[in-house]
Amino acid sequence: MRRRSDDVPSLQGPKSSSWIYGNMIEFILGVPCGEAELGWFAKYGDVVKIHGCFGQERLIIADPGAIRHIFQDPEVFVKSRKFQLITLIGFGQGSLLSANGDSHRRIRSVMNTMFSAPRVRALKPTLERIAKDFSDELASMSGSIVDAHHLLHKTSLRAVTEAVIGYDAVADKKYTATYQDLLGSASHRSRRGVVADTIISWIPDSWIWILMEYPPPELRKLMDHRKMTYSISEKLITSRLESLKSGEPAENDLYSVLVRTNAKATYKMTDTELKEQFGGITTAGEDTTGNSMVWILYVLSQHPEWQARLREEIREADHAASDAGVDYDRLPFLNAIIKEVLRFHPAGSFTEREAACDTVIPLATPLVTSTGTRVSEIKMRKGTKMGISMFGYNRLRSIWGDDAEELNPFRWLDGREIASGGTIGPYANLLNFIGGPRTCLGWRFSILEIQVIVSELMRNFVLSFPEGVSIRPVSAITVVPMDDEGRTWLPLHVERL
Ligand code: HEM
Repeated sequence: MRRRSDDVPSLQGPKSSSWIYGNMIEFILGVPCGEAELGWFAKYGDVVKIHGCFGQERLIIADPGAIRHIFQDPEVFVKSRKFQLITLIGFGQGSLLSANGDSHRRIRSVMNTMFSAPRVRALKPTLERIAKDFSDELASMSGSIVDAHHLLHKTSLRAVTEAVIGYDAVADKKYTATYQDLLGSASHRSRRGVVADTIISWIPDSWIWILMEYPPPELRKLMDHRKMTYSISEKLITSRLESLKSGEPAENDLYSVLVRTNAKATYKMTDTELKEQFGGITTAGEDTTGNSMVWILYVLSQHPEWQARLREEIREADHAASDAGVDYDRLPFLNAIIKEVLRFHPAGSFTEREAACDTVIPLATPLVTSTGTRVSEIKMRKGTKMGISMFGYNRLRSIWGDDAEELNPFRWLDGREIASGGTIGPYANLLNFIGGPRTCLGWRFSILEIQVIVSELMRNFVLSFPEGVSIRPVSAITVVPMDDEGRTWLPLHVERL
């Protein structure tokens, strides 16, 4: 009997809606974001075959066994060609987001120190100061409806640039405008963009220079941003190196830690690689954390009783705090809210991988193929495209229980076993930060930032969602709140206590 060498054609999934778009319009542009894939998982199992543009086949994966295997081996399951091209053009070859293989391992080993638990913990006072400034700004708007999406992103940009990079980007109006312009155009989603994403992945390496010489407007903005971050980080690194040479004490920001760690490292990053981290870190860290906070405030605005409970917990912690201040990890309800909203409203809905060679992925839950065969692994050919679904994994009943579809922060407090079947990510068994050697580098920083900012807001404000508006999650690189008129914003009524 011939051994099957490609199970993908026989996997089950929705019929193609059109040859040009396949199922990509429902998958990428479907509103609310995540609904289409959750429906497919419910119908076909934890791995679903969908149709990409121009008749391509793709897998959408929520199965924990498959996901763990894929993330553990970044050399076999490489980032999608589109992602690689964009990060290469936007951040440079030495950015952690673009680097692969030995270069990635070398750069990551230096950068891991930068984001270690004690280094991140040391940033608490900086984040508390930023949160306090945000709270003061919000106090001046008390009694009105504010756009919390805009305000949270402004604060998140300040947090990542000031605390991580050591640069006051908010005071640099030119940088902020360039960044916001980039984010605005990159997050604009359209049918044309869905097709362009496929076409861009066909561009061979030898043609990249044409793309860089004659970039489409979105790419031009990415390149402008890159130019600006290069010139800023060049100055920052030079000054950090000078203070190191002259024996001055280190600054508190993580870029200073990076420069000093690198100076002592056996396998060093080059000066260009040091310079190339600014753009990737800011872009990877701002939008994701900003939108995670957006969904937390959205949920809280609809649950005044959860706000009251949080307020009580935080005030008690304030009273009991030592000189070191509040230990946010010790606030059970705060952390239950954060975990549950990250689970239910992941700021990134999926990430993509491609098989670099013929390979096999194991499954935690067997699948039945269209021919009725039960398979507990999937054989696939080189080039198979996969979307790893945060929505799908974060709502698996096999992990989260029968109430996986419900937003319930108390699941984190009622003593149930959350990680049955082994964990994947670095935080609370959630997929938001993925897992394996390319796990999000900034996850600890983003959790601390969220803890500090949400606590500060709960100390001082009551938030409510205004009547007559409705908000739905829409995919725009990350998942943003959008009203029925297509405006991206989070309207919240804020009342100072
Ligand atoms: C809630 C907030 C965040 C979420 C949901 C998030 C999510 C992710 C995900 C899914 C990846 C993997 C992308 C892939 O390989 O497919 C990633 C990688 C990365 N993230 Fe985050 N991130 C967050 C915050 C941050 C912050 C605050 C920083 C930095 C300050 C950061 C820096 C990075 C970097 C540098 C990588 C590349 C790691 C590598 O390839 O080795 N992230 N993040």
